[in-house]
Amino acid sequence: MKLKVFRTRLFEEITVVFAVLLVGCGLANVSDAAVQEGSAVNRMIIHTDKGTKQISRNIYGHFSEHLGRCIYEGFWVGEDSSIPNTRGIRNDVVEALRKLNIPVLRWPGGCFADEYHWKEGIGPRDQRPKMLNTHWGMVTETNAFGTHEFLDLCEQLGCEAYIAGNVGSGTVEEMQDWVEYMTFDGDSEMANLRRKNGRDKPWRVKYFGVGNENWGCGGNMTAESYAELYNRFQTYVRSYSGNQIVKVACGPGSANYPWITVVMERCHRNMGAISLHHYVRGTGDWTRKGSATKFDEAEWFALMKNTLTIYPLLKKNIEIMDRFDRRGRIDLFVDEWGTWWDAEPGTNPGFLYQQNTIRDAVSAGIFLNAFNEHCHRVKMANIAQTVNVLQAMILTKGEKMILTPTYHVFEMYKVHHDATLLPVELQSNEYQFGNDKIPALNVSASKDSSGRIHISLCNLDPSNAAEVRCALEGAEPKGMFGRVLTAEDMTAHNTFENPQVVKPAIFSDFKLEGNMFTTTLPAKSVVVLAIE
Ligand code: AHR
Repeated sequence: MKLKVFRTRLFEEITVVFAVLLVGCGLANVSDAAVQEGSAVNRMIIHTDKGTKQISRNIYGHFSEHLGRCIYEGFWVGEDSSIPNTRGIRNDVVEALRKLNIPVLRWPGGCFADEYHWKEGIGPRDQRPKMLNTHWGMVTETNAFGTHEFLDLCEQLGCEAYIAGNVGSGTVEEMQDWVEYMTFDGDSEMANLRRKNGRDKPWRVKYFGVGNENWGCGGNMTAESYAELYNRFQTYVRSYSGNQIVKVACGPGSANYPWITVVMERCHRNMGAISLHHYVRGTGDWTRKGSATKFDEAEWFALMKNTLTIYPLLKKNIEIMDRFDRRGRIDLFVDEWGTWWDAEPGTNPGFLYQQNTIRDAVSAGIFLNAFNEHCHRVKMANIAQTVNVLQAMILTKGEKMILTPTYHVFEMYKVHHDATLLPVELQSNEYQFGNDKIPALNVSASKDSSGRIHISLCNLDPSNAAEVRCALEGAEPKGMFGRVLTAEDMTAHNTFENPQVVKPAIFSDFKLEGNMFTTTLPAKSVVVLAIE
């Protein structure tokens, strides 16, 4: 590996040759004192007294859909289950998610949202009509888990609710009624129906999505026709009884810039946020996404490179938002993101059940660093999905539950919740594979309300450790502490038989001297350092 210096502001295109990653806004290049050309040591400067932006805790949000075994088995086992539960919701899953300080949960979809009719999911459970889940495996949906159960789950988790409404196959009236049912405190048909169904006080529902992927599974609309529908539907999504609802417009999938341009242009006055969805995999092919656990370095490298596309993607989408919203009033919610692999052999392909390795963990670390870096606009992100689907935090099998490597990244990164983003300049070595290369390191840093500095570092190289020399400008550090997530093998993952293969450990491979420290990050690792 050879260190090169180049001077640029931020990622432009992922196809450019990366030698330096500058993270954290407005700083053009690493100061000459901290850079020695030709050295194999990565260089970093953290401006500990220059943070101005807050990292919303909602960047660490989650998503749960009526898909496969996410809701049923994952969250909901029913009151009569032998699996310990509170009002039908499994206790082990709630307890594990509470340890992440889960800030917000999105529901009921996904594609499912645009075929969900909420009135079928209220009232006595044995009288609820059944429906066909046409998107996900053509299975029968019993509607046992509906509005009351979801909002009970949010209360058990202590998190905000983010509900996605049905534009694709629903009506304006249906959407209006739903919001009134959940949040109106007074005397109305919907509020009284809620009371009849056992809930007197209204719930707080902070976020409401007007449709989901309406360019695809949510109705295959053009941007123009969705924009017209959005403006009409959102009119009736009201803030009742002190519940200030944030209306979320359906934004693009990945680089669909024409979509976000039209929706921003035509709807910006009527929205609090717009969504972005971005999934990554180890191949360029949706019909063969690759195995979650059986892959070689070519597919490892491809995932790392694909994950880094989040930087130019955020930059371009934000630039378009800036054109119509110069004051930055509208938030960007990356309300679906993560890795997407071929379903685990032997499972229903429509259930999107996949395993999760140290590769997924490093990818998650990069995504979260990128969201932190763009926290002036990215105010929420929801990894897909929470339990048993795609890049899950938790996998369940009957009464058993395991935590994935990605769960551990969320647990380690919770120090960034609501902290102040610190500008970082990083001069990274390259991780070269074949004729291609990407920066080997990825980072973000923040300062929490007690003044403690937290640095999350990912080493994307699966074979080489990375030595880093860091200057903490503006700090007088007294001590340092670290945790690491890594594994011997790049396909390492937790199973029901061996649930502790990938888990965080104490990390002490660092040396602090004055306001400088050096550290050596293991290959394929996520390291979080705390400095006070
Ligand atoms: O998360 C799985 C699916 O991916 C969601 O239902 C949909 O919104 C997206 O295409």
